[in-house]
Amino acid sequence: MLKTAAAVARLGTESAFEVLARAKQLEAQGRDIINLGIGQPDFKTPDHVVEAAVRALRDGHHGYTPASGIAELREAVAEDLELRHRVTVDPDCIVIVPGGKVTMFFAVLIFGASGAEILYPNPGFPIYESVINFSGATAVPIPLREANGFAFSAEEVLGLITPRTRLIILNSPANPTGGVTPRAEVERLVEGLAARPDIAILSDEIYGQMLYDGREHVSLLQFPEIRERVIMLDGWSKTYAMTGWRLGYAVWPKSLVETATRLAINCHSCVNAAAQFAGIAALRGPQDAVAEMMAAFDMRRRYIHRALNALPGVSCIDPAGAFYAFPNIAGTGIPAKALEVDLLEKAGVATIAGTSFGRHGEGYLRVSYANSRENIEAAIARIGNHLAERAVARRA
Ligand SMILES: Cc1ncc(COP(=O)(O)O)c(C=O)c1O
Repeated sequence: MLKTAAAVARLGTESAFEVLARAKQLEAQGRDIINLGIGQPDFKTPDHVVEAAVRALRDGHHGYTPASGIAELREAVAEDLELRHRVTVDPDCIVIVPGGKVTMFFAVLIFGASGAEILYPNPGFPIYESVINFSGATAVPIPLREANGFAFSAEEVLGLITPRTRLIILNSPANPTGGVTPRAEVERLVEGLAARPDIAILSDEIYGQMLYDGREHVSLLQFPEIRERVIMLDGWSKTYAMTGWRLGYAVWPKSLVETATRLAINCHSCVNAAAQFAGIAALRGPQDAVAEMMAAFDMRRRYIHRALNALPGVSCIDPAGAFYAFPNIAGTGIPAKALEVDLLEKAGVATIAGTSFGRHGEGYLRVSYANSRENIEAAIARIGNHLAERAVARRA
């Protein structure tokens, strides 16, 4: 019998991958499945980005790069941040990593240990809670509420802080809710955090370019009073439809860059060189593809918001960012996981139960609109029929 480390048993997972696997299995059996469970854009990476990677390979960029990423890419990231957030970032504080998740893992490993407390959004990206538990720290949920547009409440976050708090994880625009925290709330939090200079903040801004109806993205990098303890996570996966390339970055406080780089050296050495050249092309090249993708998401978002609200027992607030709707399904009387399973197995629609994102997700379903308008319409019709049949069966 192998004796694995106890920490391994504390690892959670991202059930979107499990739902995807089950959907593929059903498809292999000949079932027609519409996937609204997926957390990635249904668009291709822009051509000029793909070309840049091909060119890099042809030009012989086949070796290791510096562990924190090639200098030109880190400079391109700093330029992009200056343009988007009006902040000056030292390229030496940027560490390029294979995807957004890696920064999350590193940040939690740096601060998480037995006796430490880490605050994280709930419902939220499931890997936060999983990695906090893995690290041995105590995971303290920040409840996100529908009544608050799924934004965090600064007062509530500050109220959860104890002498053991080491790290606070924030995510706006958010997965799975599509919630966006308004500037005033962020400012209140920053003001409150001034009193606790020993607490680090991991700001997951991977959906920072995916906001609707003129909403503003507020980067935590914009606050000089906390800048030396903010780890800002971002990457190419969502904005440039590059989830499979595995390319992300963080802006680290000066005091942590060396540690983050050491973790990179211990873990993956560096990111695939060609992907890094693609990253430069994405940031410095034309942004039309991003605008086109966002226009398509916005149209689908408007449709799905209306359509979900027309379903029996379902209500849905206006999704403010990312590409997820998070309808309230309490009125159906069906627990989230049971509805997820039924919709997939019986109606042929993949969605993700709110509880996959933490216990505060009960009563909700994550519905991704990273699928074509036609497919979304067909999926909504299937969900509607399923709910109507369930209601009839219950009454009989
Ligand atoms: C909030 C959030 N952060 C980070 C990530 C991870 O992104 P990546 O695929 O680049 O690792 C995701 C992916 O779904 C996400 O939703």
